[in-house]
Amino acid sequence: MKLLISALRITALVVIAFLLIEYLLPTEDGLVMVKYPVLLGILAVVFIAALAIEIAIAALGNVLFKSLKGDAREKYLQEELLKKGKLKNWLKKFRANLTKRKPLEEEGEIIMDHDYDGIRELDNKLPPWWLYGFYATIIYAFGYMAYYHIFDGTTQEEEYQAEIAQARVEIEEYKKNAPDLIDASTVALLTDEVDLSAGSKIYNVNCVACHRADGGGGIGPNLTDDHWVFDGDIAGVYTVISEGGRPGKGMISWKQDLKPFEIAQVASYILSLHGSNPPDPKEAEGEFFVIDQE
Ligand code: HEC
Repeated sequence: MKLLISALRITALVVIAFLLIEYLLPTEDGLVMVKYPVLLGILAVVFIAALAIEIAIAALGNVLFKSLKGDAREKYLQEELLKKGKLKNWLKKFRANLTKRKPLEEEGEIIMDHDYDGIRELDNKLPPWWLYGFYATIIYAFGYMAYYHIFDGTTQEEEYQAEIAQARVEIEEYKKNAPDLIDASTVALLTDEVDLSAGSKIYNVNCVACHRADGGGGIGPNLTDDHWVFDGDIAGVYTVISEGGRPGKGMISWKQDLKPFEIAQVASYILSLHGSNPPDPKEAEGEFFVIDQE
């Protein structure tokens, strides 16, 4: 029995240590223990050592007790009992102080004359545990009000927005640095304003010289009409930009300069120009191509 109790106590302490370590040393990904299994090993050693010490102390106590002679043994037992009694008393008092309830025998003093079908009311004191909890909430409320309404602390809504914004940034970073995420077979038309304006920037830096700012065409074909030398859907446009046009025509492969996601952005931007009918366009080249956007 004693052994079980010490095992439980030590387990509880080790669990607390575990949680403290996880809480105080957070890592970016997952549990600290997974990243540094050594810590787990140390905890295990501490657990076993503590258990061994408890067992040794218990055994030592036993031996000492057995070595006591008649009288001394009695005295020892009595002292133990006294200790237990004191603890019990203390617990009792503590409980009584938490509630300040009148004992059953004295209830007559506080019974009120309300009587509802034999159900009567006691005028007990408010339990201190409740009363002080209530005061604590009032004090807390002042702090709360000051923080949020006077000093403009960050609200849940603001925290949420900040986290979302941060996550967006991280997603963009991830997409840019994940080259295998997109290729011609998986590319999808982007319609997000952010992506289109990023695509427009890329276009204005790299492509206007041959395709004109409005896409009407120059050295390269008109990108806004229904005629395409290559396929005019997102996969086709992605492929030309990534791999280049026919040899000698002037459209180089851009996959060394642009990341896959940037190619998807500029391809989507080009397709967003479709049907914009810029003035003075280059005459149609290639085949009539019906874009099947689905
Ligand atoms: C040096 C001139 C030049 C530059 C710069 C250039 N292109 Fe081209 N582009 C061409 C030519 C020429 C063609 C036609 C290729 C062919 O017929 O094989 C073409 C074809 C294309 C096509 C296919 C059009 C069709 O009808 O199928 C797309 C899409 C395209 N370019 C996008 C871009 C993008 C995006 C950029 C910038 C990243 C860019 N181009 C930069 C000259 C250029």
